[in-house]
Amino acid sequence: MTIHTVVMIPGDGIGPEVTAAAERVLKAADAPVRFIERHAGIAALDRGENDVLPLSTVDAIREHGVALKGPCTTPIGGGFGSVNVALRKKLSLYASIRPVRSLPGVKTRFENVDLVIVRENTEGLYSGIENQITDDVVVSMKVATRDSCERIARWAFRYAVHRGRNKVTAFHKANIMKLSDGLFINEAKKVYEEEYPNIKYEEVIIDAACMRLVTDPTQFDMLLCENLYGDIISDLCAGLVGGLGCTPGANIGDVDAVFEAVHGSAPDIAGQDKANPLAVIMSAAMMLNHIGTTRKDTAALESAGRVRDAYNLALTEGQKTRDLGGELSCSGFADAVIDRLKTATAPVGN
Ligand code: NAI
Repeated sequence: MTIHTVVMIPGDGIGPEVTAAAERVLKAADAPVRFIERHAGIAALDRGENDVLPLSTVDAIREHGVALKGPCTTPIGGGFGSVNVALRKKLSLYASIRPVRSLPGVKTRFENVDLVIVRENTEGLYSGIENQITDDVVVSMKVATRDSCERIARWAFRYAVHRGRNKVTAFHKANIMKLSDGLFINEAKKVYEEEYPNIKYEEVIIDAACMRLVTDPTQFDMLLCENLYGDIISDLCAGLVGGLGCTPGANIGDVDAVFEAVHGSAPDIAGQDKANPLAVIMSAAMMLNHIGTTRKDTAALESAGRVRDAYNLALTEGQKTRDLGGELSCSGFADAVIDRLKTATAPVGN
């Protein structure tokens, strides 16, 4: 059996708690991975590194190709720039994939929510190009390049074909940002017309899209968004299925992939064993699926399935953390998933 080396980045705030929970679950699932720990964020500075994104961390991901990452804190209105944004840009992880699905045992306003957000991960207002024009005027530049708009659209349609999805909806504000969002949707439309005419394609202005999402999310399938809209829509959609504790994610490029939950470092509950580790456990299952698919490793695919079955069973049986109305701690939920893994894999008669 091939053992794949994965870079583990615990991150800040609740990061170490939720990633430790995911690591324990993967171990119990006999996932064919071995973790090597590297640091990023304030955690890196605390360990004596002189950068929030040390080269040793980036190099390790370049060497091994896959990482599981906890959230990293970004100071507001000053201080260092986002580690998360820097990592995505450095490794050209241009596609952020965030599946949003109703979960068994998690009661929310809607049933059967099944969305996939595809977020462009390297441009838009996240380019970080800001200028102080005068004491009283600043400008922030929204960047859109034809190549990036085209490649994220192609990624979304290709994913739709591979996963049997029916429709891609591009969210935009091209009525106001005629050039940048205009380029984004024009490229998406071109990819659709020239390469994927059998997948349905529609364009919705972002404000109307938000209203439609909270009214009836089942009318959508895949949501194709530029960077900032994808960020905001991700949290909105998380709210449709139980909150930030339940939405996993992947940042994928042509070479490397970094898996992380949608949520942040949650400083309000950090260090208290209160966080829901489900989103990171789900991200870890996505990671195993990615390893299994890209490296043709059935053991990785099977362990991804075992992890998914175990957390679904735990939720079905009412094993939940506080954010979902349950009473379990972060480590307690991991234990509950591990118990279900044992049940699922125990030999008959045991
Ligand atoms: P947040 O996602 O950290 O927290 C928002 C709210 O959701 C908080 O009340 C928090 O307690 C709750 N929450 C989040 N994850 C949870 C979990 N797993 N279980 C239970 N409750 C959970 O967003 P916030 O407060 O806006 O950001 C905090 C820090 O995280 C900031 O520095 C931000 O820049 C950073 N951040 C990092 C991300 C990343 O590393 N990819 C993504 C988003 C934010």
